[in-house]
Amino acid sequence: MPRHYAIVPAAGSGARFGAEKPKQYLDLLGRPLIFHTLAALTAHPAIERVWVVLSPDDAEWSRHDWLALGPKLETVRCGGATRAASVTNGLRAAAMAAADDDWILVHDAARPCLSAAMLDALVAGLADDPVGGILAVPVADTLKRADAAQRVAATEPRDGLWQAQTPQMFRYGRLLEALENCPGVTDEAGAIEALGLAPKLVRGDSTNLKVTYPADLALAAMILRARQ
Ligand code: CTP
Ligand code: MG
Repeated sequence: MPRHYAIVPAAGSGARFGAEKPKQYLDLLGRPLIFHTLAALTAHPAIERVWVVLSPDDAEWSRHDWLALGPKLETVRCGGATRAASVTNGLRAAAMAAADDDWILVHDAARPCLSAAMLDALVAGLADDPVGGILAVPVADTLKRADAAQRVAATEPRDGLWQAQTPQMFRYGRLLEALENCPGVTDEAGAIEALGLAPKLVRGDSTNLKVTYPADLALAAMILRARQ
């Protein structure tokens, strides 16, 4: 039976958020934001280990207490210049434990509202899948293309368009190969697609938001509070 492992890239600086420290360490209901992200993964019975990929010069991680997350957690200080580089370095660090056919779930540190139900749906929905896949939601809004003056140049058809989320779940060996071949991608699925494969879209929901701007943090707090 293949095992399941998680890799959490957490080496970004949060430039768009614009806070005094990287957004993954901002307070969310009395804990660092990333605590909630990691708790969702460590709590899942199928996930055996969670690697958190930190920036080599991260000064925040060691200021907090992570004991409540239990023994599945492992930190590696090998974050790179891009998200893809951080994930690739994390995968290399996981080589001691992971076999080629094991499943890897890559999940953004900045998505603290991943629910047990969504994680279950992904793990169960892909158990027998030959490729793997991602959580995603169909695009709901009408899409506008902007011109240089920030006026509408065109209305774009949204048929068949989905927004990609994380976790993104692929086999260890193929994922590492895919990212090494295609380091410019913005998500793991993009690298798998470049191999000519078609990742499955597992329907999630919009509560699994990525905290990018300050308004997202307030929304994440509301979502988590409503679940308590
Ligand atoms: N990430 C990473 N290494 C990088 C860049 C990003 O591990 N070099 C991680 C972030 O920490 C985050 C996830 O990838 O958990 C998604 O990236 P994003 O939301 O873009 O976070 P940041 O890059 O930190 O934000 P920004 O782009 O606004 O600077
Ligand atoms: Mg970024």
